[in-house]
Amino acid sequence: MTNAYIAGTGFYVPPRVVTNDDLRTVYGLDTTHEWIVKRSGIEARRYSDEGTATSDLALEASKHALEDAGLTPRDLDLIVYASLSPDVGFPGGGVYLQQKLGLCDGADAKFVPALDVRNQCSGFLYGLGTATSMIEAGVYKNILLVGAELHSAALDWTTRGRSIASLFGDGAGAVVLRATDEDRGVRGWWLGADGRFADVLSQKIWDLKKRPFMPVNEHGVGQVEPLMMYAQMDGKLVFRHAVERMIGALFTAYSAKGLTHDDIDYFLFHQANLRINQYVAEQLGIPEHKLLSNIQSYGNTTAATIPILLAETARSGKLKRGMKIAMVAFGSGFTWGSAILDW
Ligand SMILES: CC(C)(COP(=O)(O)OP(=O)(O)OC[C@H]1O[C@@H](n2cnc3c(N)ncnc32)[C@H](O)[C@@H]1OP(=O)(O)O)[C@@H](O)C(=O)NCCC(=O)NCCS
Repeated sequence: MTNAYIAGTGFYVPPRVVTNDDLRTVYGLDTTHEWIVKRSGIEARRYSDEGTATSDLALEASKHALEDAGLTPRDLDLIVYASLSPDVGFPGGGVYLQQKLGLCDGADAKFVPALDVRNQCSGFLYGLGTATSMIEAGVYKNILLVGAELHSAALDWTTRGRSIASLFGDGAGAVVLRATDEDRGVRGWWLGADGRFADVLSQKIWDLKKRPFMPVNEHGVGQVEPLMMYAQMDGKLVFRHAVERMIGALFTAYSAKGLTHDDIDYFLFHQANLRINQYVAEQLGIPEHKLLSNIQSYGNTTAATIPILLAETARSGKLKRGMKIAMVAFGSGFTWGSAILDW
């Protein structure tokens, strides 16, 4: 049987570090370091400069992942690009990344398909499931899967938006999935969604039910109200559902594969909130040293959190061939997912 394994990982975060104190002193956010750390565990995040696109972050992460896999862009058969913050409304970011990777250049241009995944914080796992299926079915051999987000362009640093503005940061993570006949790689993936909660964590920059779809002034210039321009969230409801769904997603994976916590070497949870992850781990009795975290440094980078965490962990040398990894995510939609991998 053909398996899909992660042959290379990479990540990129913009160099500008924004601490919790910077949010207060530079961005004027009515907050404190203590409030943010106590509620979320976040100490800092990275922000991009004006002129940087999400696909620029994706490009750097992708280059690292390709290099790590010993491949070049022309070895790719497919790009899967997960993001809730694409460069523009449409097209999706996948084609911008394809172009920036140089795949459209020269006589040997390779016009690989570019698939955009729109499942927010679960985007990486939705992408992993999609890419794995294509490899297992023998359709493709080498797939670049990227999670990339640029939140800093659309955060509301007024008191109105502080519960969201304090959580999110920019970054990208990438993996190269390859076909192999060896007994390793992605062992299974399980996804879910509950559209009843679609509005609970959302950004409705426009509403196509309306005519015109966006309010316009007398000059025909569109105007976006703050409530539509910025993400809206019922934080407490998200917190409660995140805990329930993440535990459920993990148990689904365990029962499908006959596993317990003891079989797992590392847990890579979506980095939305350290308290959510610690609470889930406590409820399940997962030992602290198995729960990997980097939200302290990067905040919530949505679809990018798991591949950034994976790439950092791989780079640190902690991952050894044969180790079992569990990934779990939950986010806007609501959507969620889990995956089990043998490294
Ligand atoms: C967002 C979150 C940290 C807020 O924590 P909370 O304990 O629920 O706080 P609340 O929203 O009830 O707000 C409590 C108070 O803190 C204030 N507050 C919100 N953000 C603040 C900030 N950054 N700094 C200081 N005060 C803040 C609120 O205005 C509110 O003030 P009030 O009591 O005077 O009205 C928490 O709900 C959470 O983490 N939820 C999950 C979010 C998440 O993970 N989203 C992504 C999912 S993928």
